[in-house]
Formats: sequence, C-alpha cells, structure tokens
Amino acid sequence: MPKTLSKSEAKDRIGKLKKAINRYRYDYHVLDKETISPEALDSLKHELKTLEDEFPEFVSPDSPTQRVEGKVLKGFKKAEHKVPMLSLEDTFSEEEFLDWEKRIKKLLNINPPAGGPELFGELKFDGLAVSLLYKNGVLERAATRGNGRIGEDVTQNIKTIESVPLRLERDIEGEIEVRGEVIITKKNFEKINNEQKKKGGQVYANPRNLAAGSLRQLDTKMTASRRLDFHAYDIVGDFSQNLHSKEHDMLRALGFKTDKEAHVMKDAKDVFKFKEKIEKSREKLDYEIDGLVVQVNDDELFKRLGVAGKAPRGAVAFKFSPKEAATKVLDILVQVGRTGKLTPIAVLDPVQVGGVTVSRASLHNEDEIRRLGLKIGDTVIVGRAGDVIPDVKKVLTELREGNEKEFHMPRRCPVCGEPAVKDGPLTFCTNKKCPARHRENLYHFVSKGAFDVDGLGPKIIDALLDQGFIQDAADIFDLKEGDLAPLERFGEKSAANLVKAVKDKSKISLPRFLIALGILHVGEETSSDLADYFGSLEKIEKASFEEVNEIPNVGNVVAKSIYEWFRDAYNKRYLEKLLKRVSIEKYRQPSGKLKGKTFVLTGSLSSLSREEAKSRVRALGGKTSESVSKETDYVVAGEEPGSKFEKAQKLGVKILSEAEFIKML
Ligand code: IVH
Repeated sequence: MPKTLSKSEAKDRIGKLKKAINRYRYDYHVLDKETISPEALDSLKHELKTLEDEFPEFVSPDSPTQRVEGKVLKGFKKAEHKVPMLSLEDTFSEEEFLDWEKRIKKLLNINPPAGGPELFGELKFDGLAVSLLYKNGVLERAATRGNGRIGEDVTQNIKTIESVPLRLERDIEGEIEVRGEVIITKKNFEKINNEQKKKGGQVYANPRNLAAGSLRQLDTKMTASRRLDFHAYDIVGDFSQNLHSKEHDMLRALGFKTDKEAHVMKDAKDVFKFKEKIEKSREKLDYEIDGLVVQVNDDELFKRLGVAGKAPRGAVAFKFSPKEAATKVLDILVQVGRTGKLTPIAVLDPVQVGGVTVSRASLHNEDEIRRLGLKIGDTVIVGRAGDVIPDVKKVLTELREGNEKEFHMPRRCPVCGEPAVKDGPLTFCTNKKCPARHRENLYHFVSKGAFDVDGLGPKIIDALLDQGFIQDAADIFDLKEGDLAPLERFGEKSAANLVKAVKDKSKISLPRFLIALGILHVGEETSSDLADYFGSLEKIEKASFEEVNEIPNVGNVVAKSIYEWFRDAYNKRYLEKLLKRVSIEKYRQPSGKLKGKTFVLTGSLSSLSREEAKSRVRALGGKTSESVSKETDYVVAGEEPGSKFEKAQKLGVKILSEAEFIKML
C-alpha cells in the first residue's frame, strides 16, 4: 500500500496481518475452509512483506514471511542440494519491477542514461521445482526442492514423466544438474479431479497442488497415471554457457522441453509488452502460469549480483496481477444517477486487480453496505464482477484498527440538497430537476443503446449544460453550429458534424426511444418487451398499471416505475417537447426463427462480442435477458461461464455451446 505508516502504525498493522494470515491458513489447512482466495491471501502477504522490509525491527520468527517452505515426508529418502534451490522475489506491478531494475543497475554500477543489462524473460510455470542430477549422461537422482537445501528423493516417480530424458541427448562426462518445473495440464487437472470426485477421493485446489501430490505418491503407478510434464529452465554449474538464453538452447540440445515463449529482452519496456501479451493469452495455454520470470541474461553479471536472503538478486518473478486483492476503503462517496438514485461508491487505496488499477467500486446501496458489514477505513477484498466491474467482495474485520467509521446514507441529496427518500434498499433524490440527475440522464440519452449520437460524449454535454445551451435532452435537437463552435476544442467542422449527427438520429425505433427516456428499471430487455406488448408509444402512455404488470418478465416494481413515469407532470411536459423534435418509427413485431425464444449469455464468446450476439438474437426475433429463470429457453455458455451456467443446470434450461449458438443463428 502506498501510504506510509508511522512506526507504531506499522507495528500494529504487521501484528494484525500476521494474525489474519495465520487464521486463514488454519481455516484452509485444518478446517478445510477457504475463507479467502489464495490470490487475496497473497496480496495480504505481500503487504506484510513490504511493511517488514520497511520496518525490519518488527520481523519475528513466527511471521508467515519467515516460513521455510516444504517439509520432508516419511517414506522418501532425503536428498541434499549441493547448490541450494533458491526462490524468487515477487514483483506485482510495473513500478515494483522498475524498482528492481534500478536496484540491480546501481549494484552493477550502471549509471543513467545508460540502459540496464540485457534481460531474459520466460513463463513462470505454476508447478513444483525439481532438480535432476545426471551422471555421465544418465539420470541418477531427482529431488524436490524441500527446504531449499534438503529435498525428497523422487527419482522413481520422476522417471514416469515422458518429457524427462532418462539419458541426455549428448554425452556429458561427470555430473550435470538440470532444474525445472513439474507441471500438469489444465485438462488433466480437470479430468483427475472429476475422477477423484466420483471416487470420493481428494479434490485438488489447483494444478500445482495436484502436480505436487502426484509426484509425492509412494506408489509410482499412481504418479504415472497422472501424466505429469516437465519444463526445464536452469543448468547448475559452469558449462561455459555465459548467457541464460544459451542455457535454454543447451537444455533443448540435451533433450529437454523449455518454454517456447522465452526470449531475450532489451529493457523493462520489452518486459511489459511481453507480460501484456502473455496475460492476454494466458487462459488459452495448456498449463497454469502465474507470471514471468525475468533475469539478467549475462551469467557473469547474474553471479556478481549475488543472493539476498533466499533469492538471487539478478532475477525476479513478475507476477500477473491477481483477480482479487486486498486494499483499504478510504472513503465512501455518494453519486446521484439519472434516475435520482443515490449510489454509495467506495474510494479505494488504488490497487491492481485483473490487470488494471482500481480506485473506485460501486457499493450499490445501503443494504449492500450492511450486508458486507463495511465501515470507512476497512480493509477489503476487491475483485471484478464478470471480470470487469470493480466489486467489493468481503470485509476483513480482523484487520480493523479501531478508527473505522460507520457510513450513513445522507438524508439529503449531496448534489441539490433536497430531501432523499428510501424505497426498499434504494435511496432517491426527490428533486426531479436535480442537476446531477439531469446530467446523467443526458449522458444516457445520447449513449449507444439509446439515441447513439456520434461525438456527443459527457464532456460536450457538460459544456453545453454549464453554458446553459441546453436544459434537457430535447434541446439537443435545436442546437446550431454557431452554438457549438465557440465551445472549447470545437472547430467549425466538428460543430457541423455534430449537428448533422444529431439530425441523423432524430428518427428512432420504439425500443430505443423507451431506453432513452431513462425510466428507472427500464433497460434493453424491458424496452423491447414493452414495444412487443403494446406496439406503440401512445398505448404505453395510456396503459394502466395492471396492463403493464401483465407483461411476462415485468414484475410489480418495474410496472410501478413505468406507470408512474408516464403519470408525472414533469415527464409529460418533457415527452411532449421531445416528440416535437424526434419521430418514432412504426413498430414492427420482430419476426424470425427465434421469435418467442429468450436467450441468456454467460462467459466470453470467442467469435463475436456479447453486444453483437444480443443484437443478432434480436434481429431474428429472439429476446435476451440478463438473468436465468424458468422462462429462459437457452443459456449460451462461452468460456469461463459464471453462476448463470450453474443456475441453468439447476433449472434444467438448455445450454448451448458457442458453436451450437452460432449454428442456430
Ligand atoms: S528460475 C531462484 N524459471 O518459481 C529460483 N523458476 O518463485 C530460480 N518457477 O522455485 C528459478 N517457472 O519453482 C525459474 N521459468 C522459471 C520458472 C520458475 C516456475 C518456479 C520455481 C521457483 C519458483 C520461484
């Protein structure tokens, strides 16, 4: 965390972190309960390590950072590593990586503006490290890392792995030690876990655990059945390889598999590019990886940098940013949306989640804050819902320091000061003319799903509102070039373009028009339901509450919101003004082969975007929905489908693969 703590604050925080990490460990290992994800736990450990580095006086032998990894099991012979098997220091962000680069440059006496030493980057496989000792070219002993100095002799088990040569491809006299990672494919991992489930046996949390468990089987037949794999990354000792890149070439010549993506890099920029590329394709790899290993390519320089603690200074693990991380809620702000809804927003100590820095997360409503038990100042776990939207998942109450503050929803709108009222879990500003509400509604009006006016984004709307050029969305259609041209960063040409864009969009379909009105709870799906059911705006305007409520998929709350919107005097005036400026196309009931069918999409599709998929369903007369119910006809499951998939299974809704879906289209 970037905020610097005072000595006593650091001491306190270190104590709390140690306790919490130990408790999660206990929950997981003893109680078999995963109270927080391994990634979130990692981010707490990282915070602890960073604090301990800054305040070494508070490092104690019982700290989780002092844990000696690995232990020797009974049943395996001990195996000593003549050259200790070290571990790597982790870096989690570009800044941390650059710090490492700066440090090694300093140690190597390389002064700016000279660039850093040449680097070698490779994938960091998520398996377990083993050492293979060859004598006169023949595999003599294989050992796990153990505590780094003494591991377990797993020679017989290693011999079951096809990618480990029992005899090297070249005759090498004397001893040579090769190190690398034993891994298992994701496919095998799933297959084995499924079999284990059926048998009622142990189910493994991740491929690494399974690889480790498989290698440490006392029955080699069992190991063989797990079809492990091996990637080599290191030759120990001097074979005049001088460069790490050459070492990789040698490993291949000796008969080992090495990482195909590995290559030499000029500088940190190259490393960041490599990381970005791999992070994108990571899901498609056969194996689990958790980052890159980057090291100084020149062995001489690498050696000169030496070792700090348990890790060589010349190499780092550059970990992928986790999908979840721990951070602090610095404040809770209240935002007013276009429907007048007051939304509490958590202001976060910026943190990397899923590859981007996150500093805000919607808390949705007051009830959600109660459900989380969140106070301002709390440490929380942040993830990204559906892999995109920042989301506070959990409060780590054990890390409270005593100065956390309870949050209360304001009784008045923070923008206009008028009273705010609660409606169920939600809170609304009662002022229909609230500037915040108005502004958001305008953004929404011109957005993609509604009038979709090219080039009219929030910035221009802000300027138009602030200068009093428009009062409401209807005024957009009255804008003239001369009104726009004086605006900052607006030339005559762009003014003319915008006026044309607005004019082009003044004819609109009924569902889009309904979306643009910004009625609470009325999005894409409800708009097309309304259009299908009533066929025209006049009929919708006149519909009674009961009639609206009759539409399948429209419940009481939504029906009430629609009915009341059209009864409101302010809205009526606005609608009248708007209809003088735009025309709604005659609504034609969609016909097509998907008529009457409702689709729900989950997971990511590889051949088209979610929006494209939805609009193609609609073009064929089908409907799309965000949630699975008994009314759903098909759930289309892309890659990594979410909870909707499980719900579909539960309800017995037909599930389509992407290929089946495309065929249907
Ligand atoms: S080089 C000083 N290269 O990561 C250790 N390690 O966090 C040098 N690992 O114990 C290791 N892929 O088990 C290296 N391409 C790779 C790796 C790799 C995975 C593991 C290895 C090591 C751990 C360190």
